[in-house]
Amino acid sequence: MQLIDGKAIAAEIKKEIAKEIEEIVNAGGKTPHLAAILVGHDGGSETYVAHKVKACGECGFKSTLIRFEDDITEEELLNEVERLNNDDDVDGFIVQLPLPKHISEQRVIEAIDYKKDVDGFHPINVGRMSIGLPCFVSATPAGIIELLKRYNIDTQGKSCVVLGRSNIVGKPVATLMMQKGNPGNATVTVCHSRSENLKEICKGADIIIAALGSPEFVTADMVKDGAVIVDVGTTRVPSDKTKSGFKLTGDVKFDEVADKCSYITPVPGGVGPMTIVSLMKNTLLAGKKCIY
Ligand code: GUN
Repeated sequence: MQLIDGKAIAAEIKKEIAKEIEEIVNAGGKTPHLAAILVGHDGGSETYVAHKVKACGECGFKSTLIRFEDDITEEELLNEVERLNNDDDVDGFIVQLPLPKHISEQRVIEAIDYKKDVDGFHPINVGRMSIGLPCFVSATPAGIIELLKRYNIDTQGKSCVVLGRSNIVGKPVATLMMQKGNPGNATVTVCHSRSENLKEICKGADIIIAALGSPEFVTADMVKDGAVIVDVGTTRVPSDKTKSGFKLTGDVKFDEVADKCSYITPVPGGVGPMTIVSLMKNTLLAGKKCIY
């Protein structure tokens, strides 16, 4: 079994980006600027946004964190989105999800100028991705594809099972895995909470991408010998062994599955760091006005 070291690959990519930014800035070009809106104080969101801001610094980007309390109205948030759409210094921005229940996430996503939508959540970016046009691809699926590419994992003609059908991970990663390309060209099955024979379907997979948000769901009896396992789960499970009082837990029962597979991503240190770095890559593209 080989461990897929997302942390190391992410560090490599950040160095590549920082080098390119140095060249751009030395040549008189603009420093890419990412803004992030964070509503409320959800622990997970606080951590993710802090990592995104830190990564901007490592890449040589400018970043702005805009915070609101969770009693902000939808109208106030939409006004802020509009302000960022019109701010020429901001190349790209994200609104960290989830949002409080009284705000429609879809309305907010659709209010973002798709040319600044570095999360790749706007329907124009989702639609363009699904037909293979240049666009901002959402960060987690892009990070998974990059890991498979950097580890030279052959996906062509392979049976790939995606567990989970979320708009952020399951659906887009299934689209990318089935698309013409390398990585890609896989035969993809998407399983979800209503799927029947899920264990049997997984057992036949050459590649499993687990994105259910269900801690340790994938057990050894569901995995074929030699399969490639990509674990997208990052559930905060209470733990008395850590200072923070929780432990990030993946969707795969790592200890028993690791022995059976050819490659596996750990949690933490697998897909997570690649998600952040993919956002950095999108911000670089936004700064260079490469896509739109
Ligand atoms: N919440 C969980 N993942 C993400 C992400 O990739 N982007 C945003 N904006 N919110 C998230």
